[in-house]
Amino acid sequence: MSFVDQQPSTSRFLDDVLTGLGSVPKALSPKYFYDARGSALFEAICELPEYYPTRTELGLMRDHAADMAVQLGENSVLIEFGSGAGVNTGVLLQALLPVAYVPVEISVAALQESTARLAADFPQLPILAVCADYMQPLAIPQLDRIKASCRVIYFPGSTIGNLTPEEAQVFLGRARGLAGDKGMMLIGVDLKKDPAVLHAAYNDAQGVTAEFNLNLLRRINRELAADFDLDQFRHAAFYNAVAGRIEMHIESISAQTVTVSGRTFAFGAGERMHTENSCKYSVEEFRRLAQAAGFRPTQVWTDPAQLFSVHLLHT
Ligand code: AVJ
Repeated sequence: MSFVDQQPSTSRFLDDVLTGLGSVPKALSPKYFYDARGSALFEAICELPEYYPTRTELGLMRDHAADMAVQLGENSVLIEFGSGAGVNTGVLLQALLPVAYVPVEISVAALQESTARLAADFPQLPILAVCADYMQPLAIPQLDRIKASCRVIYFPGSTIGNLTPEEAQVFLGRARGLAGDKGMMLIGVDLKKDPAVLHAAYNDAQGVTAEFNLNLLRRINRELAADFDLDQFRHAAFYNAVAGRIEMHIESISAQTVTVSGRTFAFGAGERMHTENSCKYSVEEFRRLAQAAGFRPTQVWTDPAQLFSVHLLHT
């Protein structure tokens, strides 16, 4: 196994946080949720009874991996974005048997844990682990040395939903470039559904999602010399039907000031910081978006309850 470290620097994190807190309305990027504790909390979210996406997508992978592998063909290299804990990946790797596996993940902790497990499960498989922010333009020169019949990009988990449709189109266009000629993309996308189901999934009874959201402040306190008082902020998540997305925010309970690396920011009582979008698409909406990015969408797999979709796109 080889490891490529392109982790975003702490100074980048600080810049992004200072810019976000200086914006109106205030905003923080969801990519910073995933420190070691954040990654563990996300794993806990995936187990919650209310959070249907992970288990539904895993069911789709288990039911259709063989079919997917036939469509993806032999001797491909599998590039995975946001490999996280890599549960879906095992199912796909088992069916596809690619010539190499290239997980790209922003969290070092999650990347190391998942690649160690997959390396043990697939001892013959060459693995090139890349710690990088795949939402930004990527350059992985080591990839050119992997001889494969084609590149397959796997992007599970509906992480594409963190981007607005406009941002997603730009991102997909870049992914298409990385996949190259005769390349393919296999992407998991959460479907539009009853807002009550969505609301419950992001407002779980045990408060794990709230912990996950507020952990961002804990991380900023620790890594960026800040003094957020976690008891003075609360989790807020709701479905924005016009935009077709769940929005997560952190709401200030009182009027207060917070210092981050020597800079002070004022919060009004009830003022919110936007921390995440989780956009939902109908099958047709997503196919149109992929097409606008230059892909040719072919097959799509959905579960009987129409909760989640996995799309196959060709370059
Ligand atoms: C990892 C971005 C797909 O949007 O559902 C889960 C993150 N946020 N609960 C999602 C998340 C709150 C998740 N993604």
